[in-house]
Amino acid sequence: MRLDHAGNIVILTGAGVSAESGLSTFRDSGGLWENHDPMTIATPEAFARDPGLVYRFYNARRLQLNEVDANPAHRAIARLQREHRGDVFLVTQNVDDLHERGGSSQVCHMHGELRSAWCLACGSRYATREAFDAATACERCAGRGGLRPDIVWFGEMPYEMDLIERKLAACDLFIAIGTSGTVYPAAGFVRGARAFGAYTIEVNRDSSETSSVFHQHRVGLAGELVGELVEEILVQPPST
Ligand code: OAD
Repeated sequence: MRLDHAGNIVILTGAGVSAESGLSTFRDSGGLWENHDPMTIATPEAFARDPGLVYRFYNARRLQLNEVDANPAHRAIARLQREHRGDVFLVTQNVDDLHERGGSSQVCHMHGELRSAWCLACGSRYATREAFDAATACERCAGRGGLRPDIVWFGEMPYEMDLIERKLAACDLFIAIGTSGTVYPAAGFVRGARAFGAYTIEVNRDSSETSSVFHQHRVGLAGELVGELVEEILVQPPST
């Protein structure tokens, strides 16, 4: 496929796109799930059993966002969204806000957002950069005890699945960047996009669980390869 003819594009990102900003991935050596069992942190049952542990884990990660910034991969994706003539739909499994800080104005956070609090008492979600726990009053209803991290945990339905499926069905090019292809439904997007006829490219430092499903597998750092890929897509076709 000539990338300069790509029409509608869907980009899926995972923790690898933020690794060069200094955020840990989940499954690489030294990753978050090496020191924590996700079943004791990232499930509704874990939150019911030991909310203090869950609040501490996400508070630390929320505060860490104050120490990091977007990297060239986030900025290259934002450039593609601004300059490409077709639709560029960005869906991320990441709960950081580095795509936004890299300049993306449309980001679909299918696994939620660290800088968002969700009050189970009044149902509202609001932006916050602060640590919070069961003693924190909700900014909307002032009730205490109802706040939870606005994160989609294992066993919960990711956000915006209808929209994502529509975008996958309509895309000509699907690109996955820095994701291990282990967590569904995101890991299944490449097969879905292919079934609808899209050309598929993976960018990853290593092989992922789904590398063999992609038409093209580009091995290397997102901070280096994504900019090159975006250049290839944005090259203007010769005028005839
Ligand atoms: P993983 O930690 O599973 O995978 C990160 C991927 O990024 C790996 O395949 C690495 O090879 C790759 N990688 C690391 N550094 C890179 C770099 N600089 N450039 C390119 N690739 C790099 O993270 P995810 O696939 O995002 O869900 O994990 C998916 C979900 O699992 C997360 O959203 C989270 C987790 O459990 C929940 O918490 C619900």
